[in-house]
Amino acid sequence: MCGIVGGKRVPNLVDFLIEGLRELEYRGYDSAGIGVIDNGELRVVKAVGKLFNLVQKVEQLQWGEVEVGIGHTRWATHGKPTEINAHPHTGEFAAVVHNGIIENYRELRRELERENIQFLSETDTEVIVRLFEHYWEEGRGGEAFRQTIDRLEGAYAILLISEKEPDKIYFAKKGSPLILVQNQEQFLFASSDTPLIGRGEKGVYLEDQEWGWVDTQIHLFREGIPIEPHFKPLPTNKSSAQKEGFRFFMEKEIYEQPRVMEEFLLGRVDRERIQFPEIEPQFWEEIDSITISACGTSYHAGLVGKYLLERYAQIPVNVEVASELRYRNPVLSKKGLFLVISQSGETADTLETLKMANRQGLKTLALCNVDNSSIVREADRTILLRAGIEKGVASTKAFANQVLALWALATFLGGKEGEVPFFYKAIQKTRLALHLHDRIKRLSKRYLHGHGFFFIGRDIFYPLALEGALKLKEISYLHAEGYPAGEMKHGPIALADPELFTIALLSRLLLFEKTKSNIEELSARDATILTICSEPIEFTDDYLPIFSGEHPMEEFFQMMVVVQLLAMEVAIRLGNDVDMPRNLAKSVTVE
Ligand code: M6R
Repeated sequence: MCGIVGGKRVPNLVDFLIEGLRELEYRGYDSAGIGVIDNGELRVVKAVGKLFNLVQKVEQLQWGEVEVGIGHTRWATHGKPTEINAHPHTGEFAAVVHNGIIENYRELRRELERENIQFLSETDTEVIVRLFEHYWEEGRGGEAFRQTIDRLEGAYAILLISEKEPDKIYFAKKGSPLILVQNQEQFLFASSDTPLIGRGEKGVYLEDQEWGWVDTQIHLFREGIPIEPHFKPLPTNKSSAQKEGFRFFMEKEIYEQPRVMEEFLLGRVDRERIQFPEIEPQFWEEIDSITISACGTSYHAGLVGKYLLERYAQIPVNVEVASELRYRNPVLSKKGLFLVISQSGETADTLETLKMANRQGLKTLALCNVDNSSIVREADRTILLRAGIEKGVASTKAFANQVLALWALATFLGGKEGEVPFFYKAIQKTRLALHLHDRIKRLSKRYLHGHGFFFIGRDIFYPLALEGALKLKEISYLHAEGYPAGEMKHGPIALADPELFTIALLSRLLLFEKTKSNIEELSARDATILTICSEPIEFTDDYLPIFSGEHPMEEFFQMMVVVQLLAMEVAIRLGNDVDMPRNLAKSVTVE
């Protein structure tokens, strides 16, 4: 996820910008840059890769009287992680940094290009500075900024500086966080509170649709009307600030899911249809089958994808564990699409299968969270997951966006109309599921011992059962298995007794009666059963309620949150390190 800092009248402003970006490194980035007005002149320095590369460049320069400045760490979403695509983006006299996505940037860019305005980068952000300069007139900078943000669709936190008004920083917020601190005559901005800690006691956590500028004071507007800034105390502890108030990164990442899911869809929904503007239409032609290759959680997402792709697009799909596929000499159709799924983009087994598919001349596509990773570089095309950096070893929000991406792909390839509203309903339900957290916390104390867990479900809830079991075993170190509910009676039911915990994912919309009777079979053998369903089931022991809705994916994403939180609460009660469980690494770059 990108990070923003900015400052006015801050002593050693260039150092503050670099230090601020360092505080935001934990969010992940692939390039960085700063822009300042130095003795009235706009100066911008950018570098690809780690902050160290930017610092080396900055240290070689002489700096004069720097009044205002902005800085940015970029996590590539539109355009490769190159120096040109790094922020700040400049026009003739202004510079901008931006977090979020401008959904209508293509239309805006075409419009400006018709006016002979030339663009340098591939990013969505550059339109902001180009629009501002287009509207700018002497003495009417605030109006030009208002006109600019009125044209933007999507999400943004923006800071903009200009040689024409060297004492001002313009700011705007919609959908992406932005905080402003005033400390006497100093003004400081950041996209999360860590760079601001110790720099002031209180900050303005800007609300959506708020915008304005700072000069000698704060000028703040909402819907064109001036409003008073509302200050709140800033946190004082940096490491907990990085966790943004949550106990673990995993918890923070679970809570981020609705937001990153929305970000995934930005620019990929065209009225009632899903689209992938990053991939040219010809790429999708003449695909007769899909092979999905992945590991761990990404493999589970792939299994969900199989149900969805076959159902919506009527394309045969084969899902493979990459470590098995790479040594199997598989027979792959030349007209097949080879789809790899990976959060990190560095998983060795997945990467090797991708190379194998490329050698065989298949079309290859990656669903990946890290741009410029080995998998992204190797694949013909990529759909970026936009889940932001995932720090918890147990994958959560990347899984959410992998499944969302596969659902979107299935809808797109199936030419299915009318599905888009369900995407937003499912995201909203994911948000609602988080309200169950207290109940899960209390219930978790009953699920700490026993001789094992079975997570059971059918259809898309079967791969979710596999994922629920994986989450639990990764961080609680308890034995858990995911199983198709209908398969229990073919063996595993022999284990059933009160010490066998069954977590039943019971959809009201898919195979309800059938799954219910599978649960009843376990109940008859006295297994302890926790049901996740939109209605209580009388013969089970515990119940976590979800809302059913009209679409199984609404149930899916709620149950996903519930199994993630359950695993986390059990692990916390057992005293385990949730973010760094024993024996595991975040990225598995060896066989
Ligand atoms: O980065 P990848 O998605 O390729 O990683 C694949 C697996 O190593 C990963 O999903 C692993 O299973 C996680 N620890 C699951 O929480």
